[in-house]
Amino acid sequence: MIERTFVMIKPDAFGRRLCGEIIGRYERKGLKLVGMKLQIVSNTLAEQHYAEHKGKKFYPALVDFITSGPTVQMVWEGENAVAAVRKMNGATNSQEADLGTIRGDHGLTVQNNLVHASDSVDTATREIAIYFRPEELFDHVMPDEKWMKND
Ligand code: RTP
Ligand code: MG
Repeated sequence: MIERTFVMIKPDAFGRRLCGEIIGRYERKGLKLVGMKLQIVSNTLAEQHYAEHKGKKFYPALVDFITSGPTVQMVWEGENAVAAVRKMNGATNSQEADLGTIRGDHGLTVQNNLVHASDSVDTATREIAIYFRPEELFDHVMPDEKWMKND
């Protein structure tokens, strides 16, 4: 199934100049970038995004962290994109993330784990709508899609 997933480069990764490294991984995997923006996430947006974690012990620190500096919002599209990106990001706790994943290769802690990605197709729909208007997403056909079969 072709899916879309919402991905965010968090302030720690942005501050460490790892945007190119991270975006390059998704590109080389074969995913298609269909939306992208740079912004400092407001408290309102952060609270909407992380509503499921409200009340948890780490929630206030998480909102402080995610609003602390520039972040990159992206929508990536491809075959089973939700699971593919979660696998590439690695386990939530960077210490436990496998080497070869973004968090496993570049992170040391649970909070500052460089990237966010939707955990289901429904979550992706919800998160994409928080950060993007429909007209900010593209339906372009990539050159390789014109002659390569994906199955
Ligand atoms: P994400 O939503 O960012 O893709 O990460 P995830 O699904 O792997 O993890 P989730 O459980 O949704 O947690 C959201 C973010 O909160 C921070 N966190 N801190 N201190 C802690 O115990 C703790 N647990 C989670 C992380 O930044 C995590 O990505
Ligand atoms: Mg999550």
